[in-house]
Amino acid sequence: MHDPEALRSLHLKRFGADPAVFAAPGRVNLIGEHTDYAEGFVMPAAIDFATLAGISPRTDGKVVLFSENYGDELVYHAAALPSERTGHWSDYPLGVLAIFAGEGHKIPAFSLSLWGDVPLGSGLSSSAAVEVATAVAVESLLGIQYPGPVLARLCQRSENEFVGSSCGIMDQFISANGAKDHALLLDCRDLSFKLAPIPGDVALVIANTMVSHAITGGEYTSRRAQVEEAAAAIARHRPEVRFLRDATPEDLVKWGHEMSPEALKRARHVITENIRTVAAADALIHNDMKALGKLMAEAHQSYSKDFEASCAEADTMVGLAQDLPGLIGARLTGGGFGGCTVNLVQADQAQTFAASLGKRYEAATGIKPQIHICHASGGAHKIK
Ligand code: GLA
Repeated sequence: MHDPEALRSLHLKRFGADPAVFAAPGRVNLIGEHTDYAEGFVMPAAIDFATLAGISPRTDGKVVLFSENYGDELVYHAAALPSERTGHWSDYPLGVLAIFAGEGHKIPAFSLSLWGDVPLGSGLSSSAAVEVATAVAVESLLGIQYPGPVLARLCQRSENEFVGSSCGIMDQFISANGAKDHALLLDCRDLSFKLAPIPGDVALVIANTMVSHAITGGEYTSRRAQVEEAAAAIARHRPEVRFLRDATPEDLVKWGHEMSPEALKRARHVITENIRTVAAADALIHNDMKALGKLMAEAHQSYSKDFEASCAEADTMVGLAQDLPGLIGARLTGGGFGGCTVNLVQADQAQTFAASLGKRYEAATGIKPQIHICHASGGAHKIK
């Protein structure tokens, strides 16, 4: 697990300065997949994997970025930071600096150490954690503090405009605004949100298929294009439909034939997923775990069959969980095409559940999975 004291001493040793230390968490999405950029609903929780950022000012005009995970250090002049991506891990912190500069802030000279334990490429938002950790660290040097939703939007923009990935707002939002022991129902249209408590007797078991996922890859972008194609086809008849958030299942019955067959399936997923996500938040708030589990199962089917964003290993992981004692609901979480499944499990059964699922998955696929029992944690914050 991430250790703020260890980060502090490595920063001190490397840069000779005692840093201020910040943490920004990764996330698991309980339900609401590929709905954020369609201005719909998502319900993620921040988890206890995080990126730590240690920051201290410098007097030589330089910005020095160090990643313990990559064992790599880069040096820039604060007055001449890259304005375009470099294709390197440092694009995530550099993107945040570029967006802050674009907002009119003069980027000061500083040393930044990053060290995280969010598994990379697993659909748990390691990149959003790096962006948000960098943003809160740099804010502290600038003496400013954006409201959480505004900070999340700036970090999303750094990923869209600098890194060049077309992600929505979910990951950055939950990393900045998560609440301990709660999932968060976010309306991605106006960024209003509602917290839904995760009962103490329910555990979040995250099972990594070990199939790597990348949202900069083509599949995420092509799904997003198909979602937009479907919205445009409906808008020809109902101009008030700007995003699939505004569309209904009836629209698909009426106008589905005017879309490509792929766009129709993607739209069916997004439209029904929005309905499921709002219902899931309601179920969680009313402690109706049976209803929540059913919605998660339906969401997985829809994600796998209509959105075609699952993979054989993720379908296997979800399938193998079904008859294990204690399971409430299981589905593939995150951008898709690999990564992790999220399993809501009765807390007193979580250890045995995790062990049995791991064994079953290894026997079925020959891949040893990593399975973590996580807790919903708070959003980005200062540690010291
Ligand atoms: C990735 C993106 C998010 C969201 C999910 C899918 O995590 O970063 O914005 O679109 O995929 O729900």
